[in-house]
Amino acid sequence: MTTTAHRAVSEDFRTVLSHFPTGVAVLTGLGTDGPAGLTVQSFMALSLDPPMILVSVDRTSTSWPIIADTGRFAVNVMSKSQQDVALSFARSGGPKFDGVEWSSGTHTQAPLIADSQAWLECEIANTYDGGDHSIITAHVLALRACDDTRSHPLLFFRSKFPQLDKAHWETLCT
Ligand SMILES: Cc1cc2nc3c(=O)[nH]c(=O)nc-3n(C[C@H](O)[C@H](O)[C@H](O)COP(=O)(O)O)c2cc1C
Repeated sequence: MTTTAHRAVSEDFRTVLSHFPTGVAVLTGLGTDGPAGLTVQSFMALSLDPPMILVSVDRTSTSWPIIADTGRFAVNVMSKSQQDVALSFARSGGPKFDGVEWSSGTHTQAPLIADSQAWLECEIANTYDGGDHSIITAHVLALRACDDTRSHPLLFFRSKFPQLDKAHWETLCT
């Protein structure tokens, strides 16, 4: 495929795939030099028994190698109040944890970000090649969901974070 054709497919690919709505999560880990984290939408359930999840991470990620070295990480499922957090962790480099409240996960030491919609502590099982990404499968060691029924997840659709109003959420959740 020529470079131009490849670019056209790549742009179509991004646009078409952006029509698949997802939640947003921040993967975190505690490296030897401090906490690291990055925003992903590729988080999904993989296996129920044993409980496993899957994420795919770009090979250019600077935070993932730090997290992967520890063998353990946390998935912080973003709530709709955390758009700024999701955007901040989507920037490469910089002091991402400044002003972010978090506590250490008891099973992983990974940062559990306050006000998230749900938290999962995970242990890496396998890493596979996936084109320009790595596919990571992980065992779930512990998990917890936010118990505030007024809290709702952050959504990502067509490269935006659509904010459903209270009435929409009430319709969906009752
Ligand atoms: C909504 C959203 C979803 C994203 N999903 C992923 C993803 O699934 N995998 C990935 O590698 N990067 C994803 N990114 C991009 C990373 O967050 C971004 O490349 C970040 O700069 C990586 O930071 P790092 O270099 O510190 O690892 C996403 C970004 C946004 C805003």
